[in-house]
Amino acid sequence: MCNNANPYIPYVATIEDAWFETVGERCVKTFKVTLDDPVARKNWRHQPGQCAMVGQLGVGESMFCISCSPTEGDFLRFSIMRAGKNTQALHELEAGDKLTVRGPYGNTFPVDEWKGKKILTIGGGIGQAPLRPIVEYVKANLDQYAGLTMIYGARTSGDLCFKDEFAAMSGRDDLSCHLTIDVEEEGWEYNVGFVPSLLMDLSPSPENTIAITCGPPIMIRFVLENLKKLNFADDQIYTTLENRMKCGIGKCGRCNVGSLYVCKDGPVFTYATLKDIPEAFA
Ligand SMILES: Cc1cc2nc3c(=O)[nH]c(=O)nc-3n(C[C@H](O)[C@H](O)[C@H](O)COP(=O)(O)OP(=O)(O)OC[C@H]3O[C@@H](n4cnc5c(N)ncnc54)[C@H](O)[C@@H]3O)c2cc1C
Ligand code: FES
Repeated sequence: MCNNANPYIPYVATIEDAWFETVGERCVKTFKVTLDDPVARKNWRHQPGQCAMVGQLGVGESMFCISCSPTEGDFLRFSIMRAGKNTQALHELEAGDKLTVRGPYGNTFPVDEWKGKKILTIGGGIGQAPLRPIVEYVKANLDQYAGLTMIYGARTSGDLCFKDEFAAMSGRDDLSCHLTIDVEEEGWEYNVGFVPSLLMDLSPSPENTIAITCGPPIMIRFVLENLKKLNFADDQIYTTLENRMKCGIGKCGRCNVGSLYVCKDGPVFTYATLKDIPEAFA
């Protein structure tokens, strides 16, 4: 449910901190932002999986997932890959600058319904951005889950987002983090190979487990195939879609897959809902 009294009028927010996660032409920059209006800040509620329209007055706005969990504090994070006009303009911004936020939009990962279960996230590249809030939410409430396993890969080590956070996950029994890159690199101590292959090497049991995947379409296709080989049921598998959006509130018809509107019915879906819609994984 959008917090803005008028869903077309954005909140103004201040960037508290901003840093590059990755380098290169399609680099990712994370912004930690706080809504300027103290009442709006107090009333803001979001859950893992939700997104928001972020932009600049006079430039435009685009949809981004909120890449932090509400358990982290009274702020929002967006991890934004440079793609075109809006994202290039956002990448120019630094701490102290203003941006606009409308939201939160969309449904949520049912993290409370999943309590008592093992959580397995499988991400690739910028696809880790919507998974990070699940990881953080579960880490903050670990006593209520049966464990957390994170599989995350990218083309190179330089393309991995949130690298600094993974070291804290090593050496623990209740959570495990498996990183992989596509090809060998000097100094890389972790797995080399594609995410779907690492999933098969680890072969997690589907028993009492929820698997959530997000990443490039080709990765998702093979991850889904492998989860089925591992006997995960369709309703044990979740993903989040990022179809192009305009209004964000179910009015313009821009974001549909089959008869579903990603902005209104999603972006979070089970594989059971999507498996018969061919364009969902195109
Ligand atoms: C629900 C949702 C969540 C998203 N979360 C994130 C996120 O956390 N981080 C992030 O970096 N991006 C995310 N995106 C994608 C982001 O909205 C687009 O990259 C952004 O709109 C690009 O704006 P732009 O003006 O810079 O580029 P544009 O000029 O709009 O596009 C530049 C290029 O990117 C392509 N493109 C734009 N939007 C999409 C899209 N949705 N899917 C595939 N290709 C696209 C265009 O075809 C074009 O080639 C999300 C999109 C949705 C719908
Ligand atoms: S973005 Fe307009 S209907 Fe979904």
